[in-house]
Amino acid sequence: MTGAADGIGKALALAFAKEGAQVAGCSRGAERLDSLAKEIEGSGHIFVAADLSKAEGVRAFFDKVQEAFGGVDVLVNNVGAVLKLGNFFEVSDEDWENSFQVNLMSAVRLCRLSIPALRKSSCPRIINISSIAASHPQEIFPHYNAMKAGLSNLTVSLAQTLSEDGICVNTISPGPVWSRSWEQEADAQGDGPAFEQAKKDIMEQTGKSIPLKRMGMPEDLTGLALFLASEQSSWITATNFTVDGGLTRNPF
Ligand SMILES: NC(=O)c1ccc[n+]([C@@H]2O[C@H](COP(=O)([O-])OP(=O)(O)OC[C@H]3O[C@@H](n4cnc5c(N)ncnc54)[C@H](OP(=O)(O)O)[C@@H]3O)[C@@H](O)[C@H]2O)c1
Repeated sequence: MTGAADGIGKALALAFAKEGAQVAGCSRGAERLDSLAKEIEGSGHIFVAADLSKAEGVRAFFDKVQEAFGGVDVLVNNVGAVLKLGNFFEVSDEDWENSFQVNLMSAVRLCRLSIPALRKSSCPRIINISSIAASHPQEIFPHYNAMKAGLSNLTVSLAQTLSEDGICVNTISPGPVWSRSWEQEADAQGDGPAFEQAKKDIMEQTGKSIPLKRMGMPEDLTGLALFLASEQSSWITATNFTVDGGLTRNPF
């Protein structure tokens, strides 16, 4: 599980562990991983502090997973970030490069390393956490939209390449989900009551345009991810699943 210490990654790590899985979680900050380690059910999990936007970080995480588990059944490429808000004229070459590394290359590299281990699993799965920004790009983060479109696209080519191995590869595309990045937006308004008010305002404002009238919570993603990791999904691959409270309303 990449990007495991917060938001969607943390909810997925907790949910997989609750179902009895041994979880390998990675984020950069050791402190937040420690707090996940205290909260998670079961035993035998490992938590690795590494920067997945760098090839060395991905390798360090994968090596620790191999050392601890000797195999991989489900790879969840969840790490991702907008990194900078800005329209086309406001994002630099460096912003594009940073976005490419964390949103796309982290998954490319971890897939490449994990495939030999996945081939040995009896229920091998890759789940890529993309975004509705892939299909419904917003002006304020063109670099992020493009990288998420790349990740969703990678799912489909990789699913074909890995079909002979029985490795199912699918995408989950969340809509707006309350998580650390949104929290940081509310944080900017101040502490205590000011933060709570800002959180309420953001959630209300964002929820207005969603048919189910609320923002998502990280736990809204767990049921689908568990299903995609299970034997029940063995005839599902190369598919994108949108989880957005009805926001994008795409019938196909
Ligand atoms: N929340 C949304 O509204 C939303 C909507 C659509 C799609 N998504 C996608 O869903 C995924 C999870 O998003 P989220 O909002 O739940 O994230 P989040 O709350 O911001 O958490 C991101 C996690 O990734 C880790 N991380 C960030 N950069 C990293 C790096 N370079 N190397 C290793 N770990 C790194 C962070 O910890 P450290 O900072 O300690 O490394 C953190 O644990 C992302 O791919 C995001 O693009 C989110």
